Amino acid sequence: MTAPDLDQSRPNGSLHPYGEGELFGKGKHLLSVSQFDRPTLVDLFTLADTVAPIAQRQLGRGDRQLATGQTVCSVLDGAVLGSLFFEPSTRTRLSFESAFLRLGGEVTTTTGFTFSSMAKGESIEDTSRVVSGYSDVLVVRHPDEGSVAQFAAASVVPVINAGDGAGEHPSQALLDLYTLEKELGQRGGTVDGSTIAVVGDLRHGRTVHSLLKLLTVYRDVSVRLFAPESLELPDETARHLTSAGHRLTVCDTVVEALRGADAVYTTRVQRERITGEVPASIQGNLIDRSVLAEADALDIVIMHPLPRDSRHDAYDLSSDVDDLPGLAIFHQTDNGVNVRMAIFLTALGCSPEMVRVTTKQRPWDATLHWNR
Ligand code: NCD
Repeated sequence: MTAPDLDQSRPNGSLHPYGEGELFGKGKHLLSVSQFDRPTLVDLFTLADTVAPIAQRQLGRGDRQLATGQTVCSVLDGAVLGSLFFEPSTRTRLSFESAFLRLGGEVTTTTGFTFSSMAKGESIEDTSRVVSGYSDVLVVRHPDEGSVAQFAAASVVPVINAGDGAGEHPSQALLDLYTLEKELGQRGGTVDGSTIAVVGDLRHGRTVHSLLKLLTVYRDVSVRLFAPESLELPDETARHLTSAGHRLTVCDTVVEALRGADAVYTTRVQRERITGEVPASIQGNLIDRSVLAEADALDIVIMHPLPRDSRHDAYDLSSDVDDLPGLAIFHQTDNGVNVRMAIFLTALGCSPEMVRVTTKQRPWDATLHWNR
């Protein structure tokens, strides 16, 4: 495949390979949600809808007279994903890898610093140049903000940011908004004009940073923020929202943030990014059934990027909300596969028609149930 033309598009001296306003597409890295405007987002979500039956093993389940077995695609036959995760991950790494495999590609992977030559002092640039020579696309997670852009600048193939420290996590924001559109849509609503409570560790949560930035492509959103002491949203992210014309309300309590909202997006306290003691006030549950009841919000759409911290007093989303009708956390994880398939197809220049002609029914059937 053709390598992205980094030299032409890189602003002088910048590690970020794109100029302002350059959008995600064929042969491009995906580093930030700022690479999306509304039409680019709609295109990606349409492609994610097209491949959902392949991701979610749906075709052939409804009408067994017409089709039996599973829907399998080989559009990425021969392509190799280099999956580099230098920070803990379960769903992001496995859903990216599953997305690539379900499109017929192959996956090579390294996890942690210990088993990579970075433990021997190799630079990001050397590692990236080497590994990109073995792969057709890279997915990279790294603990330092800006590090994935450094990978991209030295790579000969597209690089997808799977989280760079407290910076960004664009694929998560894409699957979050894809899910929010579906959940609100099922209730006759839209993201445009909605009210969304965003609560938890807003300072260090990169999924929150990317989500709030991506919300700027929507219209007329009211965002109600609640963060405990010392974990407030950085000013720069707040400015992004208000400059897009959205209403931003900083609330004193989680109940106040939830009251009247259509959806809540909540996050774990990112303890690994907090230096020193976590304030004593951060304990108990952030959201549980009684908090939702007090806010008159028992039917609200409940979202969380996961993992949720289920340890005692971890100040996260309690599992006592799991039987509520608005719980969308596992819809997010399921949707992560087809949204990430759409990211790969876009970066590698594959059209819906190419997907269609390389998709077949296979006789095996592993699905127990899709409980959606
Ligand atoms: C998040 C992350 O790694 O930023 N998880 C994820 O990718 N789904 C959120 C977190 O770790 O709390």
